[in-house]
Amino acid sequence: MNAHTSGTLERPLDRWGFTEFLREGRRRGHIYDMPELDGVNDAIVSMDGRKVRNLAGIGALGWQYDPAVRQAFLDTATDFGLVVGGSRMVQGLSQPHLRLERLLAQATGTQAALTFATGMLANVGFAHAMSTRLVVEDDLVIDNTDMVFVLDHDSHWSMWKAVEKFVPGQNLRTFRHNDPASLRRILQRLHGRKIVVGFETVYSADGSVAPVGELLDLCEESGAISFVDDANGFLMYGNGQRRFAQEYADLRRADFLMLALGKTVGISGGALAGDKAAIDAFRMLSGTSMFTTNLQPPSAGAMCLVIERMLADPSIADDYLNRVDRLRAQLLEIGCTINQTPSYITSIRIGSDRTAAQVREDFLRLGFLVPVFRYPAVPRNKAVIRIMMNNRLSDEDLQSFVDAVAELKRRYGF
Ligand SMILES: Cc1ncc(COP(=O)(O)O)c(C=O)c1O
Repeated sequence: MNAHTSGTLERPLDRWGFTEFLREGRRRGHIYDMPELDGVNDAIVSMDGRKVRNLAGIGALGWQYDPAVRQAFLDTATDFGLVVGGSRMVQGLSQPHLRLERLLAQATGTQAALTFATGMLANVGFAHAMSTRLVVEDDLVIDNTDMVFVLDHDSHWSMWKAVEKFVPGQNLRTFRHNDPASLRRILQRLHGRKIVVGFETVYSADGSVAPVGELLDLCEESGAISFVDDANGFLMYGNGQRRFAQEYADLRRADFLMLALGKTVGISGGALAGDKAAIDAFRMLSGTSMFTTNLQPPSAGAMCLVIERMLADPSIADDYLNRVDRLRAQLLEIGCTINQTPSYITSIRIGSDRTAAQVREDFLRLGFLVPVFRYPAVPRNKAVIRIMMNNRLSDEDLQSFVDAVAELKRRYGF
């Protein structure tokens, strides 16, 4: 036994504080053990042999369980193998990736799309490509380091990560969440600069939907490039659906879109879509296309089938959205405070972070795995239950969930 293992001396790693952070975080209910599932991650999961209704998933429509989608995955694996499409400039690109990119461009009405392993890598790649300086040869230079990024303040972590190297006040500004007046003031101050304005369609924590048309009007008036993260809304809205039809008609005017495919499509991956020359340049300039791996062909093949089916049949999303409306009505009936915007993301207010930790535990005891968002996912003591309703839960499952919410609401008074 040496001095480190005997416990008499601090190990070098102790200076990072992980052990202490975990111990205190657990004691105060901020950190809990991840749910370990016995079998498949579906609407009903098994944990330690116990059946639990799962409201924590994000693949809302349940395409992952569709037999035809699974078959498309297997067939594509058989025909095209498992080699990823990363570093396409070196190793080339598979047919499933090419097909998916054409389909994404068609679905969004853009000239071209570029896939990434995740949505976050698409966001990081976009910010990098739009702000980079690369000297290929003395007279082959691209330099966009003079641009400024203007971001909705409540943007997703992956957007904030993407602009990490930007300097607030210099080449990074934020506008108030979903507030065109705030954006207008900032754009006026930046008159003449090369600007990218970034915002989301459907915000995943509060379920709000951006005033897309007004924000894009401001971009157009000021010559700013618009970048809209449609991770949460892609294909759920805008394909002939009634809900948020105006916002999604307006979205067609955006210069660039980010699409995350793990939500409505249900299979992990991301993409950028927009102007063809820019998208082609992003293959090199994003870094996250050239220096990290892409989706695997079977994922691309399965995604193509889901997207084709959703494009062909808007009632798939509409029927789901009707069920979400019913859930919202049930929650309102029992007196919950939920997000005002009737998007498919349902946020039930809890408030206190301490209560949130207890509520999560109690839900588990009652047989529900429920995503409770608390700081740092949302501001302190603004904890919420954030649900992307899983369409594979039956009406009875959802009724039991509402009954459990009512019980805990009585107990904790949220
Ligand atoms: C708004 C938004 N942008 C980006 C992402 C990241 O997507 P991915 O999980 O594919 O990296 C998410 C995922 O939750 C999201 O909600």
